Amino acid sequence: MRATLITNIGELTTNVAAPGDACGTLHDAAVLIEGGRIAWVGPASDAAGLALSDRETASERRNGGDFPTSRRGDALSRAYDVKIVDAGGRAVLPGFVDAHTHLVFGGDRADEFEARMAGVPYAAGGIRRTVEATRAAGDDTLRRRLAGFVDELHAQGTTTFEVKTGYGLTVADEERLARLAAEVTSEVTFLGAHVVPAEFAERRDEYVDLVCGRMLDACARHSRWVDVFCERGAFTPEESRRVLAAGIARGLLPRVHGNQLGHGEGVQLAVALGAASVDHCTYLSDDDVTALAGSDTVATLLPGVEFSTRQPYPDARRLLDARVTVALASDCNPGSSFTSSMPLMIALAVREMGMTTAEAVWAATAGGARALRRDDVGAIAPGLRADLVVLDAPTRTHLAYRPGVPLVRTVWKDGVAVT
Ligand code: NIG
Ligand code: FE
Repeated sequence: MRATLITNIGELTTNVAAPGDACGTLHDAAVLIEGGRIAWVGPASDAAGLALSDRETASERRNGGDFPTSRRGDALSRAYDVKIVDAGGRAVLPGFVDAHTHLVFGGDRADEFEARMAGVPYAAGGIRRTVEATRAAGDDTLRRRLAGFVDELHAQGTTTFEVKTGYGLTVADEERLARLAAEVTSEVTFLGAHVVPAEFAERRDEYVDLVCGRMLDACARHSRWVDVFCERGAFTPEESRRVLAAGIARGLLPRVHGNQLGHGEGVQLAVALGAASVDHCTYLSDDDVTALAGSDTVATLLPGVEFSTRQPYPDARRLLDARVTVALASDCNPGSSFTSSMPLMIALAVREMGMTTAEAVWAATAGGARALRRDDVGAIAPGLRADLVVLDAPTRTHLAYRPGVPLVRTVWKDGVAVT
């Protein structure tokens, strides 16, 4: 089988934890990719044998003999047809895992951003403007837009991403958003409970019934997750619990938008239901932090929101010191965070939220994988998907040290270069 050896990697972030190094850093390393998966990881010097001339490889094959195993190990000997890629001493890390996006929508809200920068506070009510624009957009328009975002994600090193519904808010519109999202990712989240749409403003109980009933029925087959915006101005804790319970009863896994705009019960609800993740976590009580620390629920922090709304950044240090698992995600959406850049999230987390660069890179890769309950992505180890990013820089630190610079050079998704 044709295999690829990426060698001469100056700094390799494996995320296979070693004592004192959660990022499992290797220097002068190599990675062998075979059949879309990682086949081997180790010192570049151990892989040097693979660079033997094609002549030797070809003659070995002609003779029907096995490739010599000395110095190379089983995985290497199997991969006798090897393309060598020289990373030139650059840094390589797992592809970013963006566990929170809202990428299927029509229109944009640049005017709201301008107003916020002039001092107007963020209000979740703006979601209804995007709902109008999304309902008015045809499938092809939304599909084209989504494809553009996928290219944008890949170009910035994101290889796994979640996409939420939530800008349709009718049975038919939510169904089509879930269906379109499922065309580009297996991580689709049903977010019919994003806000109560204008036409149900006086009948919110009826809307919650619809979400838990016919809307969920229409979306469940396209979705893996159910989410709810549990916040003042969106859904109460009781309504949120109903929606999540209905989703769970249909076989979906829960995740929650919580504690974004103020203190609230989102975190406690997420932990009580065993949610994979509670996202935002900007306003946390000590009890919230304790509950997260004693749970398997990941705190997914979305610093693009605070950047774009001028709210205070979440205190990642407090969570990490309490041993909470932290992920970073973009929350890419037209209202509160219109960026798909995981390198920007890393830079913000380091500059504004008390994370080390290693912690931020871990959170944007392995942390995102935990938030999506995925064990096939987020690290570089044999058997995992060959999703990797080569930086045009010698270390991962450069992601925060050189903010705004497009450092992503090559991106491999399932062993195929997508940039
Ligand atoms: O995650 N918080 C709720 N939903 C989005 C915002 C959506 C919007 O403003 O359009 C978020 O920030
Ligand atoms: Fe969101």
